[in-house]
Amino acid sequence: MAGLPDACCQLIYADPPFFTGRTHVRDNGRHSLDDNWPGGLDSYLAFLRPRLVEMRRLLAETGVLCLHLDWHASHYGRVLLDEIFGYDHFLNEIIWSYRTGGVSRRWFGRKHDTLLVYARCVDRHKFNLLREGTFRTDGMNYDEQGRPYKNTKTGRLYFNAAGPAVTDVWEIPFLSTVSLERTGYPAQKPEALLARIIQAFSDPGDLVADFFCGSGTTLAAARKLERRWIGCDASAKAVEIARQRLANHKP
Ligand SMILES: C[S@@+](CC[C@H](N)C(=O)[O-])C[C@H]1O[C@@H](n2cnc3c(N)ncnc32)[C@H](O)[C@@H]1O
Repeated sequence: MAGLPDACCQLIYADPPFFTGRTHVRDNGRHSLDDNWPGGLDSYLAFLRPRLVEMRRLLAETGVLCLHLDWHASHYGRVLLDEIFGYDHFLNEIIWSYRTGGVSRRWFGRKHDTLLVYARCVDRHKFNLLREGTFRTDGMNYDEQGRPYKNTKTGRLYFNAAGPAVTDVWEIPFLSTVSLERTGYPAQKPEALLARIIQAFSDPGDLVADFFCGSGTTLAAARKLERRWIGCDASAKAVEIARQRLANHKP
């Protein structure tokens, strides 16, 4: 990050360790991800803070940062970003909801992650409204062509043919154990999740960065969507997997 010039990135996606206090192991121990913090929360935040400050420096005027955390530290991440970007620069707290793993008998299953989205300059930031799915049309009126509409004071209100606008709660399946996308790297995120973030906050040709790139999910999704991309990871193993993945996915 230190080697990159100011304001060079349109979108930075950050998926750091989550402060789980565990070592995550996959593929019968072939891959592991250390998320232990002997110094506790203070040491975790001391790790995160300077990196987020640097990411802000790298964002273009239209740029957006998306910090991916879960219940372990998302509340601290939000406070940190309020400090670094300014409270008014908050755009979204996206809930990524999924169904995976076991069921808790002691509390409701913790089945979501939190994506905190902040703009470098509010109101200059890039945002492409996305539409997906279908509207509920039960109890609606239908016109001569069979199109559903609602009667309002000013006349007929038709639904947007492209479907409802995507909101801040996203139901996207976690990678299944047999998914073809799976690289075996712990904490690998689905490309569908990254594709949505990239489409919303960047355009083709923009630079998308991921400085905790792991298996390279962001980079692979960015490339498919014709963005420029840049990534790094502290783990040589992760970089090797990401390289391999990108080599296998020629555009
Ligand atoms: C949650 S994983 C990212 C997973 C990735 N999004 C994917 O889909 O594969 C977090 C990553 O942060 C990396 N990491 C931890 N400390 C780091 C540091 N100081 N600098 C860069 N990467 C680091 C880990 O090696 C790990 O690959």
